[in-house]
Amino acid sequence: MAFMKKYLLPILGLFLAYYYYSVKEEFRPEMLQGKKVIVTGASRGIGEEMAYHLAKMGAHVVVTARSKENLQKVVSRCLELGAASAHYVAGTMEDMTFAEQFVAKAGKLMGGLDMLILNHITKTSLSFFHNDIHFVRKSMEVNFLSYVVLSVAALPMLKQSNGSIVVVSSLAGKIAHPLLAPYSASKFALDGFFSSIRKEYSLAKVNVSITLCVLGLINTDTAIKAVSGILDSHAAPKEECALEIIKGGVLRQEEVYYDSSLWTSLLLENPGRKILEFIFPRRYTVDKLISY
Ligand SMILES: NC(=O)c1ccc[n+]([C@@H]2O[C@H](COP(=O)([O-])OP(=O)(O)OC[C@H]3O[C@@H](n4cnc5c(N)ncnc54)[C@H](OP(=O)(O)O)[C@@H]3O)[C@@H](O)[C@H]2O)c1
Ligand SMILES: *[C@@H]1O[C@H](CO)[C@@H](O)[C@H](O)[C@H]1NC(C)=O
Ligand SMILES: *[C@@H]1O[C@H](CO)[C@@H](O)[C@H](O)[C@H]1NC(C)=O
Repeated sequence: MAFMKKYLLPILGLFLAYYYYSVKEEFRPEMLQGKKVIVTGASRGIGEEMAYHLAKMGAHVVVTARSKENLQKVVSRCLELGAASAHYVAGTMEDMTFAEQFVAKAGKLMGGLDMLILNHITKTSLSFFHNDIHFVRKSMEVNFLSYVVLSVAALPMLKQSNGSIVVVSSLAGKIAHPLLAPYSASKFALDGFFSSIRKEYSLAKVNVSITLCVLGLINTDTAIKAVSGILDSHAAPKEECALEIIKGGVLRQEEVYYDSSLWTSLLLENPGRKILEFIFPRRYTVDKLISY
């Protein structure tokens, strides 16, 4: 109790004051003008909507997914909407060599990179987990490992531009949900990996921001089909969701919460975790380590 009074309460107070009073910069669409942006999983759904918002704001975009036909349509629409430039590179994120080469190609097409938006996922349906180890591996590879490969390949360009990595995750990557175990595992992995890397960038003075986006149910065709007959829940609009992700990325926020219920974002703020993460890094000595 004495410990509580002496240390924990003042720290909590300071922390909350810092958190709530730190002035947040306001978003302006011009912030994206001329910026060079990659969006993965952009042949449909939230990724497609992000490409259109970026195009309207005058950004350069390179989109990727497997389906060439869809990507072609997305690129033409982006050009109509006013993109500074728009290209696609088709391929599968099951293939880590493709992932690595894709970033190099996109960087060449745009002459650099300001923002890497990681959004693709392998097709997932709601079901009890029996024994599909193959699908656990596939989810980890497509939804998690390829994100690591893509961000490693992009880091040199992002360091040059003081750029941003935007990771699209889910409520199922923050709290437990039934019927989604492999997907959930891959999304929790994103939080563990990218939140750790954010701490490392801060220690190593690498000015590349990392934004983790925690989304509730969104009204994409895929999601609506997946939950139909199993989950009766309100789905938030994909267009607004896409915009909130871009805003959070360009404002260099650590996390973005987007859900149809306001309660979710309020309750997701995990002050215990934030306080502990705020305290711990002060104990490291990194001078002897090889830096980024
Ligand atoms: N919609 C929701 O309710 C919801 C909720 C929480 C979080 N999220 C997150 O939001 C993001 C987007 O979701 P969404 O609903 O927009 O998904 P979506 O409409 O199903 O789109 C998925 C995208 O990923 C691509 N993709 C699938 N398999 C791929 C592969 N092997 N290699 C490369 N690309 C692949 C798809 O294109 P191809 O098939 O052409 O490859 C498509 O462009 C995901 O990270 C998801 O976890 C969504
Ligand atoms: C990146 O930020 C550094 C300061 O951290 C600044 O000196 C440099 O000009 C910036 N570069 C770009 C491309 O904005
Ligand atoms: C990091 O980069 C951003 C975007 O260019 C810039 O606004 C910020 O001042 C930079 N921060 C540091 C510490 O250099």
